[in-house]
Amino acid sequence: MTGSHQDSTRDGSTVVVAIDGPAGTGKSSVSRHLARRLGARYIDTGAMYRVATLAALRAGVDLADPHAIAATVADVELTLSNDPGSDDVTLAGEDVAAEIRTEAVNSAVSAVSAVKEVRTTMVDRQRDLAAGEFAVVEGRDIGTVVFPDAAVKIYLTATAAARAHRRHQQNLAAGLDSDYASVLAAVQRRDHLDSTRAHSPLRPADDAVLVDTSDLGIDEVIDRLAELTEERIGARHE
Ligand code: DC
Repeated sequence: MTGSHQDSTRDGSTVVVAIDGPAGTGKSSVSRHLARRLGARYIDTGAMYRVATLAALRAGVDLADPHAIAATVADVELTLSNDPGSDDVTLAGEDVAAEIRTEAVNSAVSAVSAVKEVRTTMVDRQRDLAAGEFAVVEGRDIGTVVFPDAAVKIYLTATAAARAHRRHQQNLAAGLDSDYASVLAAVQRRDHLDSTRAHSPLRPADDAVLVDTSDLGIDEVIDRLAELTEERIGARHE
């Protein structure tokens, strides 16, 4: 795993800002910017599930076979930077930052991340990456499973329409063909898979602060989260 330790907490404790929520809430950009602003590490746990998925795809594993997926992912060699200024991520030493964002990975990742053994392996790695650090950790189950004692828990939400609209605009800006109705259907399908899976379904922790980003710009969301974090842990991290 890479990343310097300049942001390690002085007393060696692990101080986590957990940010959960569905895709399309602006979660990744917000979390990365928030980490920069706070001088914290940043851990994109979705990227880890994406690398696991790429490993399964490359191994030609049957995605309907959870045992085969678990066996392939058990000893996957992955590294993820915890530096908010870097999106470095490797699989068996190869830079896969672009490949984990392809459509092939998008459509297989729900199946791989639903496998219990995959989650156990990834959760251990996520805890190791954050150990002794002040870290913004982003995902689906951070406040509920990975860091149930996180100092701050935030759950970002937005209507499916708002999330689909954002994704559609991103696609168009990237010069991709995009059809709003199909994007909305894909958003709804992934929400359904992520929130109904048996292991660690997507849901807010009981003590999470819900922030609806439907009508907020990214800077407004970052400001709100920075305020919340400072209220809760400002004094502890000084
Ligand atoms: O945040 P993302 O879109 O990169 O996440 C990719 C997939 O991984 C998504 O389908 C949900 C899953 N995921 C998960 O199950 N648990 C996490 N902590 C993070 C992501």
